[in-house]
Amino acid sequence: MKGVVLAGGTGSRLFPLTKITNKHLLPIYDKPMIYYPIRTLVDAGIEDILIVTGGRNSGDFLRLLGNGKEFGLKHLNYTYQEGEGGIADALNLAEHFADRQKICVILGDNIIEGSIRPAVEEFRRQQRGAKILLKEVPDAERFGVAELHDGRITGIEEKPKKPKSNYAVTGFYLYDGSVFDKIHTLVPSLRGELEITDVNNAYIREGTLTYSFLEGWWTDAGTFDSLLRATNLVAETERRRAQVTLVQA
Ligand code: G1P
Repeated sequence: MKGVVLAGGTGSRLFPLTKITNKHLLPIYDKPMIYYPIRTLVDAGIEDILIVTGGRNSGDFLRLLGNGKEFGLKHLNYTYQEGEGGIADALNLAEHFADRQKICVILGDNIIEGSIRPAVEEFRRQQRGAKILLKEVPDAERFGVAELHDGRITGIEEKPKKPKSNYAVTGFYLYDGSVFDKIHTLVPSLRGELEITDVNNAYIREGTLTYSFLEGWWTDAGTFDSLLRATNLVAETERRRAQVTLVQA
């Protein structure tokens, strides 16, 4: 399966941190943010990766990541999103790369403790459709929120004022080759963007969207608070892992 990291956008919620650089190049503890989603893909066994960047500093991604040697990769693919068209618009740029095969898409500011490998393996066996990963959160209104009935997702609302559940849709999406047909039918939302939530709702209408729950902690890093939270969570986890290694040695 191929992987796509979406790392475009202007990062306006982090202004002025993003005035002279891209959000995904900002530090999370001891690494640039973009390292984490790439590592998540590689750990899930995905090695053919496209990075969608944008904005004024896209050249810096190439200087930072090169061909992905640091991740054990031989090659990385890059493409450029013009303007602020939203997540689904950024994903649309992966159409040629995906070549009608299944893809695993990660938002560049989503950081996790564990692994998405189990979901990726399940989706390899899923005949068609899409799969998303949910996480129970206390502040669901900040995210896409899934409505569940009898173990099935019946709808997703993007940043609802009154969430119908506590299940946030995390920024990990598994899609079959029809995702681009769905993107082509989208119209911009009220905030003027093509929404990934509309793509997922198209799969729900078709009856082909499955889900699983993400194990371990999960955070985005697109606001001052979540950026700090991400750094603290990574630092804590690194310290814990170092202690375990020390005890085992
Ligand atoms: C995006 C998606 C949202 C999802 C979130 C996960 O929101 O639109 O559905 O829950 O990522 O991080 P953003 O915070 O990028 O606006």
